[in-house]
Amino acid sequence: MTTLVQERKNKHIQNVQNSPVMTSADYVITARDFSVYYGEYKAVKDVNIALNRGKVTSIIGPSGCGKSTFLRCINRMNDLVPGCRTTGKLMMEGIDLYHKRLDVVELRRKVGMVFQRPNPFPKSIYDNVAYGVRLKGRPPQTQLDGIVETSLRRSGLWDEVKDRLKSSALGLSGGQQQRLCIARALAINPEVLLMDEPCSALDPKSTARIEDLIAELSGEYTIAIVTHNMQQAARVSDYTAFFYEGVLVEFGETSKIFTNPKNEKTNDYITGRFG
Ligand SMILES: Nc1ncnc2c1ncn2[C@@H]1O[C@H](COP(=O)(O)OP(=O)(O)O)[C@@H](O)[C@H]1O
Ligand SMILES: [Mg+2]
Repeated sequence: MTTLVQERKNKHIQNVQNSPVMTSADYVITARDFSVYYGEYKAVKDVNIALNRGKVTSIIGPSGCGKSTFLRCINRMNDLVPGCRTTGKLMMEGIDLYHKRLDVVELRRKVGMVFQRPNPFPKSIYDNVAYGVRLKGRPPQTQLDGIVETSLRRSGLWDEVKDRLKSSALGLSGGQQQRLCIARALAINPEVLLMDEPCSALDPKSTARIEDLIAELSGEYTIAIVTHNMQQAARVSDYTAFFYEGVLVEFGETSKIFTNPKNEKTNDYITGRFG
């Protein structure tokens, strides 16, 4: 067992340049030589990365470099795309996420996702948050009320909506809708939260609220966030992964990536030479 852990550790160190040394227990998601194809087109190329437990990792890189494709694989969202296939390994806590007997519904309970555009259901605020919980079973009303309140408190929305839980979620502002979507994801107690440019449709004030929220949620959740905004990556994340043309060019502590990148491409990107 120890040798296996050691072997894995060595493998990470070989593959992930500048990766901080940790035991494999500190990793929640691990990709090994992981590639994603759309038909013949290889959108993600032989990626090796490990997402640290309770930490925020941002995924940055120019448009079309495979950020969303990679992120969506973590909860198997790409299954819905015809012609999309993967090679290599993507693991969550030692479980092969592409094993043919993997329970995808269960996976999506453990790995919540928030998208670029807030996408609340055309239902009440309460029903949006309760949705995933009700899919799992029929908890007693008081228990469900508790889950809804806790989730809304965690997403920083409770005080704004507690008097109108039965109103339509579509009446909320964009920023509130995005926090509602986060509450909806939190309600089913995920371990991992994926966020694909969660602030790109929001104004600066709502963006700041989401960034604060990410800081509050880190520690408890392992978070991967795709962002176009390098200041945002620098502000919210512990680790940063820079993708370019499907390749993970550099991965490491955010402070190092932004102050002392090892790769010239990373440097060019973070200094705004291309985008
Ligand atoms: N459903 C799809 N079918 C075919 N090609 C796709 C699909 N989604 C994305 N791609 C292609 O894969 C590459 C990576 O896309 P994507 O992961 O969306 O990039 P990013 O999120 O970094 O902007 C792009 O060249 C894009 O055109
Ligand atoms: Mg994208």
